[in-house]
Amino acid sequence: MFTKKLLIISNIVFVIIISILVYILLFMGTEMVKLPDDNRIIVKYEPDLRDLVLSEMRDYLEVMNEIQQGLAENNPDKIVKAAIRQGQISLEATPLRLLKLSPLACKQMGFRGHDIFQAIADSARVNFKRTTTINQLAELTNNCIVCHRTYRLEMK
Ligand code: HEC
Repeated sequence: MFTKKLLIISNIVFVIIISILVYILLFMGTEMVKLPDDNRIIVKYEPDLRDLVLSEMRDYLEVMNEIQQGLAENNPDKIVKAAIRQGQISLEATPLRLLKLSPLACKQMGFRGHDIFQAIADSARVNFKRTTTINQLAELTNNCIVCHRTYRLEMK
């Protein structure tokens, strides 16, 4: 009689524990993350332009990483090869449609980024000094930061 009661009680406890676990798993941790106020200006691009811009952004990061590797290895050729990819060549390949849809300051920061990539390539080729490249990288990163603080993309 006593063991039967114990069995029932332990089963009830078991079910309660399982229910609590299921509740935690399914219903907790799904609340929205609270972000600081987002005052960035929205820029609207069509899906293809948005994809192009974002894939270019990801390439910026890769190029910067290759430049840093070049610095660590004291290898100016690596820096030139990487930086050129997002320099003048990339600037010239910018679609007109993208320029039309971008606010003026946004365009200017975009141009500025490509100019600095080009300057990194040029000075590493002509007269490589690590401190020069590091300073240019700092200037470049600052340009990324200012633009990211100012704009946000949305689909048209
Ligand atoms: C002309 C403005 C501008 C400049 C300059 C700029 N970005 Fe961006 N970047 C953006 C915008 C706008 C987004 C989208 C942000 C959003 O919608 O929340 C973005 C997104 C990104 C993303 C996310 C990509 C993805 O797939 O979602 C990366 C990575 C990035 N930028 C890296 C960089 C780096 C590195 C630099 C500097 C070399 C840089 N960006 C310079 C405007 C800029």
